[in-house]
Amino acid sequence: MERENFIIAIDGFSSCGKSTVAKAVANKLQFVFIDSGAMYRAVTLYFLRHQVDLTDTAEINAALQHIHIDFTPHTDKVCIFLNGEDVSEEIRMMHVSEKVSEVSAIKEVRHALVKHQQDLGKRRDIVMDGRDIGTTVFPDANLKIFMTASPDVRAQRRLTELLAKGELVSIEEIRQNLAHRDYLDSTREESPLRQAEDAIVLDNSNLTQEQQLQIVLQEYEKRKSGY
Ligand code: DC
Repeated sequence: MERENFIIAIDGFSSCGKSTVAKAVANKLQFVFIDSGAMYRAVTLYFLRHQVDLTDTAEINAALQHIHIDFTPHTDKVCIFLNGEDVSEEIRMMHVSEKVSEVSAIKEVRHALVKHQQDLGKRRDIVMDGRDIGTTVFPDANLKIFMTASPDVRAQRRLTELLAKGELVSIEEIRQNLAHRDYLDSTREESPLRQAEDAIVLDNSNLTQEQQLQIVLQEYEKRKSGY
């Protein structure tokens, strides 16, 4: 039987503004927004706190059994909970960012989270952002967007975000972290970051948030009326 809910997949590099657009689209359409990167970050935080050995598959599998991730959808501020604790702020900090690509390259981690993400997309209209949503998680998504922006624009956006939170980092540190993550994300063996063939490319280096929102909504309307 054909799926009846509508799925919008938004993929792309780190700090391209995927979550901002995804949130705005979800808000406008009253869809559930799911930030899949936040899930990889929550797992990374758990692994860091429990000093999980990333080379030990048995230890990783055992740890995954103890991880429960929840979101609070349909509120202005989407929070992510790791075993009942709100970790929305901590997962964005540098110590997590520095480790998350390594953790998200682990096969067992990906299998567990992809399964969880697919379950979240059953029977509900959703907007999910990430790296492999249109290629691996929902290859049959109704609309796929691949977002890009210039490295300078991305680094500046991340710097503003971190400084606002009181984290003292240099733009150079951020540039290096982003370049390193791009490399790891797109060269890993398990579902690497790549553009789905049927994705619409959205370079937002010179676009306002409103312009980006309108582009995605137009694409949504086209798909919807094609039903
Ligand atoms: O979107 P983000 O920067 O919060 O994502 C954090 C990390 O998680 C990123 O380095 C790559 C990884 N990730 C992934 O491998 N697959 C996804 N679907 C989402 C994120």
